[in-house]
Amino acid sequence: MATKHLVFIAACFLLGLTQVNGLQLVNGKIKITIGTTSGCVDTVSLFQTQLIETYNEYSEFLELDFVPWGRTLWNADGSFSCQFQEPDCWANRLHRCALDMLKGNQDAQMHYMSCEFTQPRPSFLHTSYQCAQAVGLNLIDVDYCVNNNGDDLDRAAQLASQVPMATINFVPYIVFNDVIDVPAHVQARSRLKSMVCFALAADPSTNVSGCEIE
Ligand SMILES: *[C@@H]1O[C@H](CO)[C@@H](O)[C@H](O)[C@H]1NC(C)=O
Repeated sequence: MATKHLVFIAACFLLGLTQVNGLQLVNGKIKITIGTTSGCVDTVSLFQTQLIETYNEYSEFLELDFVPWGRTLWNADGSFSCQFQEPDCWANRLHRCALDMLKGNQDAQMHYMSCEFTQPRPSFLHTSYQCAQAVGLNLIDVDYCVNNNGDDLDRAAQLASQVPMATINFVPYIVFNDVIDVPAHVQARSRLKSMVCFALAADPSTNVSGCEIE
């Protein structure tokens, strides 16, 4: 009797968690879109406490999409204004360039962004191409891209971040499977790995089990 009772409680708890979580695989993957800005310590924290660990564990099931734009304003004269001033604008442009050059290589994109959001935070704090170099990008091409802004890379990032920023109004913003959901964003800032693990465990074909609630 006592055992049955326990099973019942556990089942309710798991069911409750699934409902709150609501995260599911789409075509075998979970897409995670992350709006970043280089000068933001909350973005650093997301990488250091959530994203790097989650990616290391479950990369084969993840589709990452970084949008380095944050609260950038594109002024009428073509210049940008950014939340953390000129270094933020410069580094975000560099991130857009590097991610574009690494298109189709998610591991390299993740490696690159992790480098930028790990001390010494080379681009934002030191105006350095160190992370671009670390992933093997041609620095001449990188520099050319950084210094010739105002193109489709900027337009795409501005457009992509418009609705999530209007709704979530936080950097970094986190969107799963292209569905903007503020509670999911809030949870992901502190328990991303658990959310991904439980979503994967719900699909037996992933072989993922043993999820922990963090
Ligand atoms: C899950 O395990 C089965 C049996 O060991 C294996 O055939 C399959 O490739 C595994 N799937 C994944 C996604 O690792």
